[in-house]
Amino acid sequence: MGFLVQFLIMEYLMLVLLVLVMSEDMAKDGYEDIMNIDVSSVAIDLMKKKYDHVPQLKYMEMDVRDMSFFPDESFDGVIDKGTLDSLMCGTDAPISAAQMLGEVSRLLKPGGIYMLITYGDPSVRMPHLSRPAYSWKTVLYIIPRPGFEKPAGSSTKSNLEPIPTTDKGLLPPDYVLEDPDSHFIYVCKKTDDTELSNATVYPLKADVL
Ligand SMILES: C[S@@+](CC[C@H](N)C(=O)[O-])C[C@H]1O[C@@H](n2cnc3c(N)ncnc32)[C@H](O)[C@@H]1O
Repeated sequence: MGFLVQFLIMEYLMLVLLVLVMSEDMAKDGYEDIMNIDVSSVAIDLMKKKYDHVPQLKYMEMDVRDMSFFPDESFDGVIDKGTLDSLMCGTDAPISAAQMLGEVSRLLKPGGIYMLITYGDPSVRMPHLSRPAYSWKTVLYIIPRPGFEKPAGSSTKSNLEPIPTTDKGLLPPDYVLEDPDSHFIYVCKKTDDTELSNATVYPLKADVL
């Protein structure tokens, strides 16, 4: 997870949508204020007990669609592994996704980062992330599952290099996804509106939900 360290700075105030070992590792790396949330009281109670001795880690039971407990622009970063994916499998997925992402956008300070770690490729995630209300500038990384061995003769590019995307934020037509179980990592930076004035935004469609 070295690439995470490229843009996260220790004194940052982080909101983590319950990512088990990552929060512990972030505390070990020096992050001082890490709020972890999940809608499951069982998960939160377990984690609270497990990390009782780590003062940097705080836990709260909360629905990501309503994080009104926190004031606007109160976090430098939000990390999500699997929470948006979980909402996308539920009923009213598009509404839930819009509620969650609207809340994430509200909570981020200007210049803050939303990192989405997901199984959803750009064709099903970019329509959600590119809504103008969020003003997010998004960079994509693709990380194969641990232990995946690249086929002989494939690209020697590091997985820590951003993936070049089309002007719609999609994978280029000739892009070869070597490991179909890869994680897609979207690093979305909250920008001011002028930075995005020329960016392409496209509507949600039924086939991406
Ligand atoms: C696929 S799991 C991912 C768990 C963890 N992030 C990981 O990577 O190991 C999805 C998590 O999202 C939580 N979740 C689902 N809907 C939620 C909601 N509306 N608000 C907050 N958490 C939610 C579930 O309780 C579950 O812990």
